[in-house]
Amino acid sequence: MSEQKTSRIPEFYKKSIEERLRITAEFAGLSDEEVSLLKNFGNLDPKVADRMIENVVGAMSYPLAVAVNFLINSRDYLVPMVLEEPSVVAAASNAARMMRRDGGIKSMASDPIMIGQIQVLGLRAPHYARMLVLEHKSEIIEKANEVDPVLVQLGGGARDVEARVVEGPRGAMLIVHLLVDVRDAMGANAVNTMAEKVSHLIERITGGKTHLRIISNLADRRLVRSWVKVYKDDLGGEEVVDAIVDAWAFAAADPYRTSTHNKGIMNGVIAVALATAQDHRAIEAGAHAYAARDGRYRPLSVWEKDSDGNLVGTLEMPMAVGTVGGATRTHPVARVALKILGVKSARELAEVMGAVGLAQNFAALRALATEGIQRGHMRLHARNLAVMAGATGDLVDKVAEIMASEGKVTYAYAKELVEKLSKEGGV
Ligand code: MEV
Repeated sequence: MSEQKTSRIPEFYKKSIEERLRITAEFAGLSDEEVSLLKNFGNLDPKVADRMIENVVGAMSYPLAVAVNFLINSRDYLVPMVLEEPSVVAAASNAARMMRRDGGIKSMASDPIMIGQIQVLGLRAPHYARMLVLEHKSEIIEKANEVDPVLVQLGGGARDVEARVVEGPRGAMLIVHLLVDVRDAMGANAVNTMAEKVSHLIERITGGKTHLRIISNLADRRLVRSWVKVYKDDLGGEEVVDAIVDAWAFAAADPYRTSTHNKGIMNGVIAVALATAQDHRAIEAGAHAYAARDGRYRPLSVWEKDSDGNLVGTLEMPMAVGTVGGATRTHPVARVALKILGVKSARELAEVMGAVGLAQNFAALRALATEGIQRGHMRLHARNLAVMAGATGDLVDKVAEIMASEGKVTYAYAKELVEKLSKEGGV
């Protein structure tokens, strides 16, 4: 009888990468080839990887691409994107090409204000306690700012205090919000430390017991707003404008569609977040919570037709990103990605990401509202198959074109075409 394998491995975290990998390989029956794959850390130093997260056994590479054609606030950007999905980078570049008139996509981020939440329990009179918190606002702000003098020196720090009485399944609670200007950081560390620091003071003020002290990912004080006009002539006429507005109206009316619509926006946003090593879960959580902020899940963008018949699009969403601290600085490729972008601040990075989200959304709606999404996907897929089947140079496009136009996109057919056309010569 074979011995039962156990995942209970005491002090796994204390072991070396090699040792952890050996244990994992044994557990999962990995081949030597599979083990070498994991051992290949690529452009990430194993020592850096081992400090970034716990229990590291290897690394995994994703493609890093550059989307071209982006003109944002009259400045040209090459946009690094990391993701696994074909068509997204091509779609973003293509959309950006159509958005270069009048200085390109406009984008404006608010001050980088993040919210730290402090939950106060055990209050007999939560509404009265709320007033006491507001009365002692400056004292709370002062205490919070003792945490991070460097942030204060840079012009950031705690700015304001708000308080709400929230009815929950276990009765009323007082929720205190500490509003913090985090400058170029994503801000979670600074905000969490501040929230913890002021909790005793809040207990003294209210007579209650503080419980959770943590950042809110519904970063609705740190918004990016992006907008663009796409001229009807560049789109193929007013019919296409109407078709895109109708596609948006679907997302505005039906949450089953809204989810996919917003996913298309996040295709662009998260790809840049990954390339620059942001906390993309925080961005994603914030986006969807913001989309549902009034109790109904809505699209993050709006597409309309203006009085000249042109298409105008706007996007508004939280964008909690940083250019200092965290993996942005420790991951060497994230540093290079930021250099490619050439952004000078977290605010500028947020502006670029909003613009990319809007362009990505436009690309998806345009494709869906006209030829359908699959044709473009199929063209790219056909090219990939042609290359896999041995096509090079002009033959790649020729094989792809035949397969796409005949609607027969398979590896076997690609191989057949490559052989046939190569024999015929001329390519
Ligand atoms: C696919 O990754 C994203 C789309 O589904 C977005 C959309 O439907 O708007 C194409």
